[in-house]
Amino acid sequence: MYTELIKKIEQLKKEKSAVILAHNYQAVEIQDLADYRGDSLQLSILASELKAPLIVFCGVRFMAETAALLNPTSDILLPALDAGCPMADMIDAAQLREFQGRYPGSPVVCYVNSSVQVKAESDICCTSANAVKVLQSFPADKPILFVPDKNLGAWAGKQAGREVITWNGYCPVHQWGFSEQDVLAKRAKYPDYVLLAHPECDTDILKHADFILSTGGMMKWISTGDKAIIATENAFTKYLKHIYPKKRIEPLSPQANCKNMKKTTLEHVYQALLNHQHVITVDPAIADKARRSITRMLEL
Ligand code: 13P
Ligand code: SF4
Repeated sequence: MYTELIKKIEQLKKEKSAVILAHNYQAVEIQDLADYRGDSLQLSILASELKAPLIVFCGVRFMAETAALLNPTSDILLPALDAGCPMADMIDAAQLREFQGRYPGSPVVCYVNSSVQVKAESDICCTSANAVKVLQSFPADKPILFVPDKNLGAWAGKQAGREVITWNGYCPVHQWGFSEQDVLAKRAKYPDYVLLAHPECDTDILKHADFILSTGGMMKWISTGDKAIIATENAFTKYLKHIYPKKRIEPLSPQANCKNMKKTTLEHVYQALLNHQHVITVDPAIADKARRSITRMLEL
């Protein structure tokens, strides 16, 4: 049904030597079209390595900003300009400074789901795939401040054996998209399935999980495993079923939908390539500081 539009996108992509990246939560047709798919860490690494003059980033704003910081020589396009992340908006730089003021000397780790301003105020950035490792890079003598995700921060702190004080932020999709009741119901229906949960989920879900993984980690698990209940955003589960039609994969709940990740349509990708929109730039006054927190993470 999208054939004509896809042909036009492919043509423009060739003419402009563009590369299309898609986060694992993008709609199936966008992921099918993309040159590379991945979780936040995989896409950040790719963005820092790609030599293409033009990168179309199908995801949300903080991801395109991270790519723009790591790859200043490519133009980074965000096809749907209003695709944001409500969790990233739960703390700003002034709130972070006030938080820090309450714990003098404590280092700050920010989840990549944060604004450029918050990254610039943080010591180091992390993603769901490396949060434990990042926390372990600090000595255990002082509490570590973790923003904005309280769920990821609390879980990673426990895993890392570090005292972590979290900001009270959360992903609405992982916080409210499913409940403990859903876990009990799915477990009863599929008793021999494993539960794979994203660390953005509430402890009520995480305490039942067999494995707690980033979306990249889940993708790797499914490549060799079978029979899984997936506690993360729904498009990801749909995409897994699309590429592994014979595997038994169940969403924990069909309610876990990220509206922002679904804002990017094929038409947006086409318009992005046609009109060179929307170029994502970062305020040069804070770009170096923000970049430092991300490159520190990548160096680990
Ligand atoms: P990962 O794909 O890095 O696990 O992150 C999930 C997410 O919520 C991105 O917004
Ligand atoms: Fe933000 Fe949650 Fe959507 Fe990821 S799934 S972009 S954390 S709102």
